[in-house]
Amino acid sequence: MSEAAGGPEGGGPWQEPAQAAWYEDFCARHGMYAEVARAAALALAPAPDARVLDLGSGTGVSTLALLEVLGPTGRVVGVDPARRMVEAARRRVSDARARFVLGEAGPLLARGEGPFDAALASSMIWLCEPLDDALVGLRRALQPGARALFTVPSEYLGEVDHLTAPAARGLHAALAGLRAGAGASMPRPARAEGLDSFASFGARLRAAGFEAPAASSWSRMSPPDEQRDWWGQPVVLAGLLGTADAGAHERARQALDEALRRAPALEQRWTLVVAEAR
Ligand SMILES: C[S@@+](CC[C@H](N)C(=O)[O-])C[C@H]1O[C@@H](n2cnc3c(N)ncnc32)[C@H](O)[C@@H]1O
Repeated sequence: MSEAAGGPEGGGPWQEPAQAAWYEDFCARHGMYAEVARAAALALAPAPDARVLDLGSGTGVSTLALLEVLGPTGRVVGVDPARRMVEAARRRVSDARARFVLGEAGPLLARGEGPFDAALASSMIWLCEPLDDALVGLRRALQPGARALFTVPSEYLGEVDHLTAPAARGLHAALAGLRAGAGASMPRPARAEGLDSFASFGARLRAAGFEAPAASSWSRMSPPDEQRDWWGQPVVLAGLLGTADAGAHERARQALDEALRRAPALEQRWTLVVAEAR
């Protein structure tokens, strides 16, 4: 991570132009991230005047969801280590109640930000390596008693029933074919160690200074074109195929397109994990 004007810069693949542009475009066309963020903001239910941290605010999709549930004196600070994502959020969110900071949660207090009354970490916690450092950093930025809510695809926590439903079989056969063709083992988007089950995530949360972790389920139907575009994103294809080769990515996109051409909408299930800062 290097120092840049305005704060420490990092973000790994999210800082890559192709990935940052992909995310903006995907969110403009599909509801996946906005809908789960909205469900999460409603479940977090911050007080109308709360100061809320949006951890991994990306292009501002989750920030907008938080602004919808806050009153006129509420505030959101979005933090993200990927400069391109922060720049996109600043372009996109013009609400005076929101600001975006480049970096991670740990140093926020020392930079004069917080402590926060609540936090949302939507669609991001599995990207944090090491997970424990990210959780300790988040805890440091919060008031005692503040609630933090994480949204995690349920399969990352070991719940896979919805993926074995008949409707999902065509997609998963195509993914298995791509994997086998690439000599890769698992279609596993990069994911932090310690996130294999709710029990292990809960233990990490407790060790980082949170208590009473609790989980609830939220699901939506994802149309085939959204599925195709999601699996076709640069970071996921690189994880799936084990290569960043543009030609291999394009061939994989075509195979997914073919597999999803006649597919119905697929259930997408998320686990909302909430915990309280001790
Ligand atoms: C899938 S995007 C989600 C963005 C936003 N929360 C939303 O709901 O649209 C994941 C974001 O997490 C950010 N991220 C990755 N590691 C992070 C970390 N350690 N701390 C904060 N954000 C991180 C990435 O840069 C990226 O912008």
